[in-house]
Amino acid sequence: MKLWEGRFEKPLDKLADDFNESLSFDKALWQVDITASIAHATMLGKCGIITEDEANSIVEGLNGIYADIEQGALALQGAEDIHSFVENELTRRIGDAGKKLHTARSRNDQVATDMRLEVRRGINRLTNLLKGLVETLLDRAREGARYIMPGFTHLRKAQPISCGQYFNAYSEMFLRDMDRLCDAERRISVMPLGSAALAGTSYPIDREITKELLGFQEISENSLDAVSDRDFVAEYIFCASLTLAHLSRLCEDTILYTSEEFGYWEIPDELSTGSSIMPQKKNPDLPELVRGKAGRVYGDLMAILTVIKGIPLAYNKDLQEDKEPYFDAAKTAENCVAIYTELMKRIKLNVNAMYEAAGAGYATATDVADYLAKRGVPFRDAHAITGKIVRYCIEQEKTLPSLTLEEFKAASHVFEADVLEAVKTRNSAEARDSVGGSSHRAVRRGITAIKRRLAKY
Ligand code: ARG
Repeated sequence: MKLWEGRFEKPLDKLADDFNESLSFDKALWQVDITASIAHATMLGKCGIITEDEANSIVEGLNGIYADIEQGALALQGAEDIHSFVENELTRRIGDAGKKLHTARSRNDQVATDMRLEVRRGINRLTNLLKGLVETLLDRAREGARYIMPGFTHLRKAQPISCGQYFNAYSEMFLRDMDRLCDAERRISVMPLGSAALAGTSYPIDREITKELLGFQEISENSLDAVSDRDFVAEYIFCASLTLAHLSRLCEDTILYTSEEFGYWEIPDELSTGSSIMPQKKNPDLPELVRGKAGRVYGDLMAILTVIKGIPLAYNKDLQEDKEPYFDAAKTAENCVAIYTELMKRIKLNVNAMYEAAGAGYATATDVADYLAKRGVPFRDAHAITGKIVRYCIEQEKTLPSLTLEEFKAASHVFEADVLEAVKTRNSAEARDSVGGSSHRAVRRGITAIKRRLAKY
């Protein structure tokens, strides 16, 4: 039964009905829809808009529907959308009282309320998953605080860094993602219920009651805006998009670092895949897939941004198109964070390979220039002298740590014996003890700071 069929002589064409329906995807809202209806009915009873008996009977009926769906005893089918489904089922179960549930309410404020409740749940799930990921990265950072690996710029070896600092860098990104979700939740926690179709309601409702029952922080101030605002869906998907952007960077590193050419990390067999033709292959399918899923979530973001543009006030059916992008983005982001947490937990670090790679490629050249500059040579001159030393190494097929003091002195008389220490790979990373730097002490300070920020969640 359609909720609106009274005005029509003929039933909806089958093709139109199939096109119009949303139950096939908004059935995922069943929990929040019933919860919001229970709050609404309770409020109607308390305000004397329906009798207490009617309210009780509605609440009881809705609880029964909730339990049956939960147990798989009631199939979500045969209605236009989840709101119609629940109301039809309620009326089938409790009779006329069920028909009073929709008093002082419209599906417009109902669906806007449901979506806010649902996105809030999604925020909690994604935040918890991100917390697990950061905890895992913290474990790896503790383990890797004294491991040395090459740091890159332009994907060229730049300076030796602590492996712990590397993992902390990703924790920073994911902590920002958590912070963003938390911030978005503040704006999501504004209740549209009570806005009715668009203009508010003439019934003596008490929105404070429903607000408290549903755990919203605030009540919307403008009913026209409240029924047609989907900014929060776009905000959530934007947050998820940035998380995927960060994961995608980590994927790229994983794919490079686990390649034969790099060999810094190893993906365990149980998280790797093979090739159907090349027996030797061990492929990084999981990081590649996560990197690819970033494109998919960006697509969801474009979809919602495009849906909400050009919508005249107030509600328009276009807004039904908020759901699939949201559900897709939420499921994808959650799955990607979960799989990457496992991957980061189990990835094997080839400590020696990372250390050796960090020492190759003149990665301590900056330390040579800094050595001179700290002894009074203007940095620009120090840079040029060091450039010449690097050229000498390339010609002589030598590394910086293998040069003798005489060879250094040939480039500048400022060099003393301690330059031989300054160019050692580990010493280079350890010298960078500035806040946020690569010394193991700086990394430990970083770990403490991340732990402190994580404790808020
Ligand atoms: N399925 C609809 C949606 O998701 C519910 C609201 C319908 N409201 C209406 N005025 N037709 O937006």
